[in-house]
Amino acid sequence: MTTVGVLTGGGDCPGLNAVIRAVVRTGAKHGFDTIGIRDGWLGLVAGNVEPLTDYSVTGILPKGGTILGTSRTNPFKNEADVQRLRDNIRKFGIDAIVAIGGEDTLGVANKLSKMGIPVVGVPKTIDNDVGATDYTFGFDTAVATVTEAIDRLHTTAESHHRVMVVEVMGRHAGWIATVAGIAGGADEILIPEIPFDLDEVTHHLRARYEKGKKFSIVVVAEGAQPKGVAEAIAQSARTDEFGHVTLGGVGNYLRDELEKRLDMEVRVTVLGHIQRGGSPTAHDRVLATRFGVAAVDLVRDKDFGKMVALRGDDIVAVSLEEAVANLKTVDMDLYKLATIFYGG
Ligand code: F6P
Repeated sequence: MTTVGVLTGGGDCPGLNAVIRAVVRTGAKHGFDTIGIRDGWLGLVAGNVEPLTDYSVTGILPKGGTILGTSRTNPFKNEADVQRLRDNIRKFGIDAIVAIGGEDTLGVANKLSKMGIPVVGVPKTIDNDVGATDYTFGFDTAVATVTEAIDRLHTTAESHHRVMVVEVMGRHAGWIATVAGIAGGADEILIPEIPFDLDEVTHHLRARYEKGKKFSIVVVAEGAQPKGVAEAIAQSARTDEFGHVTLGGVGNYLRDELEKRLDMEVRVTVLGHIQRGGSPTAHDRVLATRFGVAAVDLVRDKDFGKMVALRGDDIVAVSLEEAVANLKTVDMDLYKLATIFYGG
């Protein structure tokens, strides 16, 4: 009997439960047992696992979050943890691990795979920045949430003749800002890939005002930085086990700077974790389900060290090495399309 261990690591996102369900149900079809590993890599280090049956995954398809819990644990921070993790794999008779995560979780998966541990990766993140896949699940849901928020902010912005700054997630890549910004008709989109020039932003917003459009929507990704500033604005200097600070504050920074430059009221909305919560869209449920099924197929074929990925409309397998080599930043053609609407 093959035993598959499944875990979810890093920031949660809508669609994780759909993958877990697909892993359990497809595994059962292949005659596999599935063990749920609690709280990401932490569960393997601490030996915190539970059997997952068809019954345990009933009804979880539309649920946000992850029934397994998650953490940002990096077992490679401590040599003893790697040994504990290996011991627990043996102790629980785990023959293969399906690791559902973003850059950090998959980075650990890649290192473990190189040590000979049978791992398959599934890419998730609302940020949509995992390399080697066109899309991650969770992104579509986050974009829908942000687009709805922009629509709502539009009506109040127009009533009060204000500039509304909307801060969204996007640590290294501004996919959410760009796609939701285009969908919501944003008047300026600021992303981590392109340091912004405050004078240019002011110029666009003033041009709109002078045309008679006395309100504007500015969408800014949390990782966006003003030109000449070395680091993104963080809430505190504390880092997680992968060395990331908690970002946040660029929206307030923009409000202060724009109010100095424009004769307009500026308000900020920080959408934060609202973007990560809630039920996945139909698109994300289907993508997550396809990924989960494909991951178990890789286990069946003993094709380890791979990550399932979306290329065009196809689910393919790419090496974990390729997946973690580079983050996927925003397509500049798409970003340029958004700028056509600036100052209008
Ligand atoms: O999952 C990625 C992400 O959404 C980033 O955009 C953001 O910086 C981070 O998670 C915030 O995570 P948390 O506050 O949950 O640690």
